[in-house]
Parts: sequence; structure tokens; C-alpha cells
Amino acid sequence: MQTTGNTLFWHKATALVQLEKSDRTIVKIDDKQIAFFNTDDGIFAINNRCPHEGYPLIEGSLQGDCKLACNWHGWAFDLKSGKAIQGRDAVKTYPVKIHDGYVMVQIVPPDKSVLRTAALVEFDEAFAEHDYERMARAICRYEIAEGSLDAIAIHTVKVSLTTHERGFGHAHAGLADWISLAGDDNELRLVAFLEALGHFSWDTIFNPRTAFPERSLAWDQADFLSAIDAMDQPLALSLCRGAFEIGLGFADIRPLLLEQNFRHYAGFGHPAIYLAKAEQLLEYLGNEIEETVCLLLTRYWCIAAREDLIPEFKQFGDLLAVSKNTEDILLPQPEILCEMPQRKLLPLVDSAAEEDMEKWESLLAASAICMLRFDTARQDIVDQPIAQNVGWLAFTHAITFAESLYFHAERDPSLWRSGLLQQACFIGRNSRFLTQGPTIINATLPDATDFFAVQKAALFNMDAGDYIYSVHRLKMVSAVEKLVKLVSHDTSKLLISALNKYLSSPLRQKHPARTILQAKATVSRE
Ligand code: FES
Repeated sequence: MQTTGNTLFWHKATALVQLEKSDRTIVKIDDKQIAFFNTDDGIFAINNRCPHEGYPLIEGSLQGDCKLACNWHGWAFDLKSGKAIQGRDAVKTYPVKIHDGYVMVQIVPPDKSVLRTAALVEFDEAFAEHDYERMARAICRYEIAEGSLDAIAIHTVKVSLTTHERGFGHAHAGLADWISLAGDDNELRLVAFLEALGHFSWDTIFNPRTAFPERSLAWDQADFLSAIDAMDQPLALSLCRGAFEIGLGFADIRPLLLEQNFRHYAGFGHPAIYLAKAEQLLEYLGNEIEETVCLLLTRYWCIAAREDLIPEFKQFGDLLAVSKNTEDILLPQPEILCEMPQRKLLPLVDSAAEEDMEKWESLLAASAICMLRFDTARQDIVDQPIAQNVGWLAFTHAITFAESLYFHAERDPSLWRSGLLQQACFIGRNSRFLTQGPTIINATLPDATDFFAVQKAALFNMDAGDYIYSVHRLKMVSAVEKLVKLVSHDTSKLLISALNKYLSSPLRQKHPARTILQAKATVSRE
């Protein structure tokens, strides 16, 4: 019963005499179960549901100093404050008073903003420890308190400026894909945000805290590009800050990063992928993270490996350095393309007579065939040099890169030439790891609509191990779903069959024996 006036929100809970007969009782008021404990220090009321997994605290063990231990997993709470003495989340407490022989309890409607603040504090604590279940509870509490999940994501992306030493990465890209995948479905959004933010948390644990330069420098495009080329991260970041100081933003930085990226083969195709995902992320989360995203991208651009400088891919830069010379030749069938070593493939791709989009699709089909013919047994070989190490991700990146190339080059056709050569780099590299014989397409797969419906639903309950592996599954499903709408029926069948093989094949995450053998070989040459 609720009383009003100067006894606002006080409820008559139970007769005092009742509680004196025992050390506890439980009363249901509105939709809440309130547990009352009669201790040497007085009567205390707390929510009956343990904040850990919801088991009833009325069954708990009273200890000295107003301490109650939950008997399910040992969390213990201070009955006065509700704080967890053992465990993590606090339990809700309620003021109690005695009036006319009755125990009265005050249940004040919660202030949602206070609840949101508390949930965010909890989230940050759980994030720092990668306490996955606690992160889930904090996200749910925040959402119940009418907090927007986007706000937690914005908060997390901002924090990543100091926690992600490599800048924009798979966690950021995955966040964009997760948001897209969940759409407007609130239940799916909860899962998506948990998984996406869990990935940020995981990265944070393994990265040292990273200081970003606070200073800004007067913006200059040429200086910015030179700083990235020189891998001078502090200078590039300060210039990026300078750009925002004069009101510039992602729309101004993006073309420069794009230009710089497509002048090189760097980061195993990741810069192009990340830039597309960054744009998507900004569309979802808004300009509150615009500067952070640009700084993170700049940081990644400065540290991305420069593969076009290593002998294997030097030909890429050599070709781009001279004018394009189109010849009266056509690319062979994708089955042939996928077997060509890159020293032959790159000049052929550069000079073939087809339109860029035709070449793009041929190379995409060849990349799908590479996946279908990937000799997965190579993942298990122990005694081999590092240069022979290969796994699924070497193949999937050829597909996700192709998707991002289309995204960028459709708007800026000058990017096609470099992008097609990069596609050829992926294929040439992977051609060493294929099985002999014909390409086997799985003819029993459902049509594209049903296939993607099943695979997308499965992503919300996957257990693919480390986040890096689950985010690649997500990235591939998302990329192939977009790609099949752009290509011929035959290429579409190849892509879906390749994706299916990837999703249903074992994927090694560790190679203990190989790792130590290769480490020994490395250090023995020091
Ligand atoms: S449910 Fe109470 S400690 Fe786990």
C-alpha cells in the first residue's frame, strides 16, 4: 500500500512482530520482491534478486557487519549501502522505518538519468576487465533506463582513442557491421552491441594505453599526406586535429586517406575496408565521433604495413609508376586467373582490354575460386617456414577488399587501376595454396535469400572463438550479401559456395608446435 503526502512513497510492508519472529521475510510490493533482514544493526530492505544472476537473496547467509552472502556463487553485499563486498554489481537497497508497529519501506520511482549514469559506470568497470556477462547486464540496465545503445557505442569509440594503439581496427569496422546486421530489432541490437563492444574491451586488455598528442598544428593537406607517408604519427595526428579546429571533417579527410591508400598496397587491403566501414559507422552514430574516427584512421594509416615495399609486391608500385598501357588482350577465365603467379597476373590485369568493372568481377570470381580450392589441410602443417603460413583470412580479405573497392571506385573511378592490381596481389599470393583439380561448387545450397537469412541469424549466436574470428565471419557474410547483388548469376554462385565453405570449415586459431618451431628458427639467426 502506498501512502501519500509527507509519507511519500512509503509502503506498509509487514508487521514488526512478524519480522521479529524470524531474521528475514519477503514482501511483494507492486512488481518488486523486497527482502527484509532483521540484524543486530537494524532492519534492512534490499531487492530480492541477486544482481549477479537473479537468484533469491532471501536465501542468502547473514554474516556480521550487515553482510549478506548469496549462496549461489558467493557474492556478498553490504546491507546498508547495497555495495558488493564480494562480486561486482550492487544490489538495490530501500529505506526502512518503523511506524505504528509496522515495517515501512520507501520505494521511490527511479530517476532514469541516475540509473543510466550508474549503468555506464558499471559498463566501464566491466569493460576494463572484459567481464562479458557484466557488460551484458550493464547494457541491459542502461537500455531499461531508456538509454540509447548508440550512446554507449559512441562512448566506447571515443575511449578507443586511447586504448587502440593501432587506431581504427576490426572492432570499429565490426561495430558498423553489427549495427547494420541488427537493423531495428531491439533484441538483436542488444546482442550486436554486446558482441561489438566486447571486441573493443578485448582489444583494450591487450593494448597498452596510448597517448594522443593534445596539440594541433595548422592544417595543410600536403603536410598531412607527407606525415602519413613518413609514418610520422604525432605530426599526422596533430595536423588532423588542426583540420577539425578550422571546421573541416571526415568529408575533407576521407579523400586524402583514400588517395594515399590507393597509391600503395598497404595493410593487406585493410585501409580501403576500414575507410568504407568508418563512413558507415559515422552514418549510424553521427558526427559526435567524427574527429575521433578521423584520428583513429590517421593513426592506422601511419602504422599500416607497406607491402608494396617488400620484394613480393614491388611490382605493384612499378606498374603504377608508369602510364597504363592497354593492350588488345583479354583476361583468361577466373579458373585460370586464380592459378597465375602475381608476376604474370599483375601486368596482365593492368593491360587487359576489358572495362574496369568486368575485370573487377573476373578477379572477384577468381578470388571465390581460390577459396573453393583453398587447401585447408595446409593450416595443420607444423614444420614449414613462416612464409608458407596461410589461413582462411588470407582468402577472405580478397573478397572483403573487393567489396570495399567497389564502394570507393564507383564514386571515384580513378581508384580502379590500383584497386584491380591489389585484387591481383591477393590472388597471386593465394595461388600457392590451392588444391589441384576442378572447382567444386556446392549445388545443394538454398537460394541466396534463404542462405543469407540462415547465416545472418547464426551470427547472433556464434561461438567462433576470439573476436577477430567472429568479426571476420560477420564481415564476410555482410560483404558477400552485398556483392551477389552486383554480379552475374555464375559469380554469385561461386561467392555463395565459397562463403559456405569458409563458414563450415574448421579454422585454426593457434599453432603451438608450429609457432615454437618457427620462433626457434627466427631466433637462431639473430
Ligand atoms: S546469483 Fe547470487 S552470487 Fe550468483
